[in-house]
Amino acid sequence: MSTTGASDFLPEWLALREEADARARSGETLTFLRAHLEHDGRDGRGRVVADLGCGTGSLGRWLAPRLPGPQRWILFDRDPGLLDLARRSVPAAGVETRRIDLGSLRAADLDGVDLVVASALLDVLTRSEVDTLVEAVAAVGCPALFTLSVAGRVELSPAHPLDRAFSDAFNAHQRREGRLGPDAHAATARSFERLGYPVRAGSSPWRLGPGDAELTRAWLRGWVGAAVEQDPSLPGEEYLRKRLEVCSRGGLGVVVHHTDLLARPLPSGDG
Ligand SMILES: C[S@@+](CC[C@H](N)C(=O)[O-])C[C@H]1O[C@@H](n2cnc3c(N)ncnc32)[C@H](O)[C@@H]1O
Repeated sequence: MSTTGASDFLPEWLALREEADARARSGETLTFLRAHLEHDGRDGRGRVVADLGCGTGSLGRWLAPRLPGPQRWILFDRDPGLLDLARRSVPAAGVETRRIDLGSLRAADLDGVDLVVASALLDVLTRSEVDTLVEAVAAVGCPALFTLSVAGRVELSPAHPLDRAFSDAFNAHQRREGRLGPDAHAATARSFERLGYPVRAGSSPWRLGPGDAELTRAWLRGWVGAAVEQDPSLPGEEYLRKRLEVCSRGGLGVVVHHTDLLARPLPSGDG
């Protein structure tokens, strides 16, 4: 999820959001994934998991202990600094990193992979990048779990009359230069369905309260900053000051809605 604007991929930001991400991911979608894996016959032999846009490896730290059987993880990202951090921290029997621009991902890059996963990725991609990625997954024929794509809805409490204007401007910013932003999960689902992959969606909202003040402040700064970059007529400074004041008193609640997607190939013989 590019939940904020410019600094999304800094390791400090990824670390700050890791716990909220872990709390948010849909347990129901994970349960369906685990049920699917029960039938792939790989529990004894082990699985190869590909994490696309791995960042510092946050998804691997969360998911590896929740998957059955031994695993080897292949981490893909275009940022070598993030790959270096990720390599040392994913708790799997084997971890390999590959520097790649996902816009050029091919089925051959996923050769031998049993499960494709990603977190906070789809909404920063373009439609053509998503189609490329989906085609590569479908060619390999494995299941894929994409967690935490922004859904384009945030709720702040107490409400402020300008919340909607900032939210609209932020969503428009997310769609800049052809990125899918809040349209990503629906576009990805359609892309899989066109290739005969049934898709299941689960909601995975961040629910930020008084215990998440540092993350809430960082999220607010990024969210408002991106909105003002999109629409410079918005009174960003004043709005941000008021929101941060409420936050510092422990009175601000924020829900940032996301969607998790699970795409599973039909059992062979079912089409
Ligand atoms: C919002 S971060 C999420 C990182 C990690 N999955 C997490 O949940 O903490 C998005 C990640 O995708 C990577 N990324 C974005 N677009 C990419 C592309 N076209 N090719 C390769 N990596 C990409 C970024 O470098 C970054 O690490």
